[in-house]
Amino acid sequence: MTQQQWTAVDEYLEQALVGEDAALTAALATSERAGLPQIAVSPTQGKLLHLLALTAGARRILEVGALGGYSAIWLARALPADGRLISLEISPAHAAVARANLHEAGLEKVAEVRTGRAVDSLAELVDDGAEPFDLVFIDADKPSNPEYFGWALRLTRPGSLIIVDNVVRRGAVADAESTDSAVIGVRRLNELVAAEPRVEATAVQTVGSKGYDGFMLIRVMS
Ligand code: SAH
Ligand code: DHB
Ligand code: MG
Repeated sequence: MTQQQWTAVDEYLEQALVGEDAALTAALATSERAGLPQIAVSPTQGKLLHLLALTAGARRILEVGALGGYSAIWLARALPADGRLISLEISPAHAAVARANLHEAGLEKVAEVRTGRAVDSLAELVDDGAEPFDLVFIDADKPSNPEYFGWALRLTRPGSLIIVDNVVRRGAVADAESTDSAVIGVRRLNELVAAEPRVEATAVQTVGSKGYDGFMLIRVMS
């Protein structure tokens, strides 16, 4: 199988199961025009996040890494009217685009983008005694994944779901000798998760328009 086939199947699945959506299409166009990197989750992945949030009955969602707000729109649309999504973003330029896109999607009442280093915003949430989040989506700088997992544990409750994007990296994650800081970050995350008695986890490899990568799913058990 080739990238071309993965993309063709993703296009087919988008058409068959996801459909056209004005706000999401506009969010991607606005992000591209603003010069943001085109690394948002794919439409089929975005809908997976949406369905997981719905299935979890999520009322509070935390995202680490907003970019232009594409995944945030999918996630926030799963919230009830009085729900809350907080997305953390280091780049003021990315955050501005994300806020505009969330506003265009009519989600400004439930979704908020906080600018700053995610570790600082996460510490602030803990300091402020934030209510536990039902779902956390970790999708920012990959070397910090171990730290983000630690904060996510402090900001969730038994039954919460933590999802981590980009955990396979074209298979590089299996290379114990890798010097890629993203790969080292994922491998360290896997060690932490395996050693953490409060969680159960798995990871699933994915192919599609974004290439060969994967998601990690972590359920907080106790
Ligand atoms: N979740 C988005 C994609 C996020 S891309 C989507 O699927 O639509 C990763 C984002 O993480 C980028 O916008 C980048 O600026 C941000 N980021 C990188 N390092 C960060 C840090 N230390 N703290 C917060 N955000 C960070
Ligand atoms: C890349 C993809 C992502 O989903 C991400 O969050 C960061 C980087 C990439 O393909 O480089
Ligand atoms: Mg990602």
